[in-house]
Amino acid sequence: MPPSEKIKVGVLGATGTVGQRFIQLLSTHPYFVLHSLGASARSAGQTYSSVTRWKLSSPMPEIVRDMMVHECRPDVGGFDECGVVFSGLDHDVAGEIEESFRSSEIPIFSNAKNHRRDPLVPLIVPLVNSSHLSIIPQQQSLLGLKKGFILCNANCSTTGVVVPLAALEKSFGPLKTVMITTLQAISGAGYPGVSSMDIMDNVVPFIGGEEEKIEWETLKILGGIKQVEHQNQNQNQNLKNGKNETKLEFDYHQENKLKISAQCNRVPVLDGHLSCVSVEFSQNVKPTLKEIENAFKNYTSEAQELNVPSSPKRSIILHENQDRPQPRLDRDLENGACVSVGRIRECGVLDFKFICLVDNVRLGAATSSVMNAEIAVEKGYVR
Ligand SMILES: NC(=O)c1ccc[n+]([C@@H]2O[C@H](COP(=O)([O-])OP(=O)(O)OC[C@H]3O[C@@H](n4cnc5c(N)ncnc54)[C@H](OP(=O)(O)O)[C@@H]3O)[C@@H](O)[C@H]2O)c1
Repeated sequence: MPPSEKIKVGVLGATGTVGQRFIQLLSTHPYFVLHSLGASARSAGQTYSSVTRWKLSSPMPEIVRDMMVHECRPDVGGFDECGVVFSGLDHDVAGEIEESFRSSEIPIFSNAKNHRRDPLVPLIVPLVNSSHLSIIPQQQSLLGLKKGFILCNANCSTTGVVVPLAALEKSFGPLKTVMITTLQAISGAGYPGVSSMDIMDNVVPFIGGEEEKIEWETLKILGGIKQVEHQNQNQNQNLKNGKNETKLEFDYHQENKLKISAQCNRVPVLDGHLSCVSVEFSQNVKPTLKEIENAFKNYTSEAQELNVPSSPKRSIILHENQDRPQPRLDRDLENGACVSVGRIRECGVLDFKFICLVDNVRLGAATSSVMNAEIAVEKGYVR
């Protein structure tokens, strides 16, 4: 159900690569209305159109052209009137800024890495683990907050890989081993990103911190949330209640039972991260190729079940042509909100291998944040 009145929203890092996608997605959104824009002190105090190098092929939406850009502070620019603030901030500034918004009781939907490892912060790919929203009341209660929280979405290449992995685990139980090699677009590094002299006619076999992110984020996302009994610190209260406290904790795929190894490369593609993935199942009886195809084809997410505005009709699109998916041909499917999968075949070392593709700036960033916020509205976490 859409909210009875549109919710005012803000965007931090509104001038950047991810920020521009936020602007595009939010300019005509059925639940949200753009109210506040934030960027660095270099841009603050000027209109959005005068400080933004607009890089999308569709025109800059009229609604933002004359809006003022503000510093990223909860007490300026109408941010305190926003029910939700989306963050497309660089990690070197995102940490403290996002915390200051949370302390001001403003829910933050972040794309930065800073809070992803926090044991109180859900790391949500909306086509996989929206159930992790259930940790939010614990985050609020431990920090003494009523409305504020931080929710992160995953690294862009993690997002593209966990959706097909979740489909396999849903049908065939826990995976045992996953090997991933990525071919990542240059927009993943923001603007201006990698110099043209470095990336034209070339492949750069290093993206700082990316391999580690894929390896541990996948465990937090695919794992569940467990209830753990903690000894109550306050002995008197403990005696009075006669019981220990129960806390929620992420189980990191049953404490790292899934082994993952990733190798990341930057390639001269504008948008769309492609990954070559090999998997090994835990179960002894291996599924057939046909069963794997059906697991991908039939996979549905909670976002689809809730039918939130940004959810794709199909979370995974299975390609039959041997040379697909390709970034240029397939990144726009479902408005960039799905993962494309193809070339499923037996692997000579692990059980099976396949190729998957995600639009790194849409499902890999802004679309996931917006979809997470839509689900949070539907489930009553945004009030
Ligand atoms: N690009 C992707 O595919 C992708 C995917 C997933 C996640 N992410 C993550 O999303 C975040 C943004 O990435 P991006 O690619 O959009 O970067 P970007 O193009 O470099 O944009 C950075 C934004 O941050 C603002 N900013 C910089 N310094 C600031 C400061 N001191 N105070 C306030 N704002 C400041 C910039 O504003 P000015 O214009 O005023 O400088 C700009 O709006 C990063 O954390 C990144 O890791 C990116």
